[in-house]
Amino acid sequence: MVHLKSEEEVQLMREAALLVSKTLTQVATIIKPGMTTLDIDQFCMQFVKDHQATLSFYNYHGYPHHICASVNDVVVHGFPNKTPLKEGDIVSIDLGVILNKWHGDHAYTFILGEVAPEVLQLVKVTKESLYKGIEKATVNNRVGDISYAIQEHTEKIHGYGVVRELVGHGLGKSLHEDPQVPNYGKRGTGLKMKENLVLAIEPMINMGTHKVFTEEDGWTVKTQDGKVSVHFEHDICVKNKEALILSDFSMIESAEKLNPNLNTSYY
Ligand code: MF3
Ligand code: CO
Repeated sequence: MVHLKSEEEVQLMREAALLVSKTLTQVATIIKPGMTTLDIDQFCMQFVKDHQATLSFYNYHGYPHHICASVNDVVVHGFPNKTPLKEGDIVSIDLGVILNKWHGDHAYTFILGEVAPEVLQLVKVTKESLYKGIEKATVNNRVGDISYAIQEHTEKIHGYGVVRELVGHGLGKSLHEDPQVPNYGKRGTGLKMKENLVLAIEPMINMGTHKVFTEEDGWTVKTQDGKVSVHFEHDICVKNKEALILSDFSMIESAEKLNPNLNTSYY
């Protein structure tokens, strides 16, 4: 069932989305080689709790951590662990919070130090594709218009692999609401969007094949060819002329520009 939000509810969802952005901004400030993703998990957990919110992912269908930390060939749902991060890693941190009953859910990929130019390009194109999708999230467009825009930019134009098994989604009092928002598809198909539909749009784009597999832990999704994958996610609200982006990358970007351990040379 699709739940359209009232203006007041959109404002509350914006608060939730911004708390995720603020948490990721703190991550952008502290992340460095030698730190573990479990350290980041604990930091995020504490930061969110200090802001009178709870964590959406913890125990969601049995998910055993507070955040997802997906490094290099891990596409999504990576478990935070004790392996120290190292120069050259790319790290997607995906975080969900519940604030005043409403979910915020978004993700950002960080680049630690020097990486191959191809990796920088993949990160750049994946982020661009998210905005190309968001551009289509307007009243009377269809969900397939978002999907097509993301796939066109990443797969058609740049030859990357668009993950099929995992998709974006409606967001509200539940983490996953209708409709699903695939990162591949046909223009003019799917749900016709109405004002104040809130979506989490989240391209997961692989350098090589789109094929993925799930590890024995039942969660960790990896690329089949072992090549890297990038994930960005925004929460947006469908509007007439232009979608309203509820989450905020600009604060994360300002923080990562100030962190000498992070590579921001792609933008
Ligand atoms: N952003 C992801 C999603 O919306 C993260 C979910 S992780 C889970 O599906 F543990 F909550 F499943
Ligand atoms: Co999501």
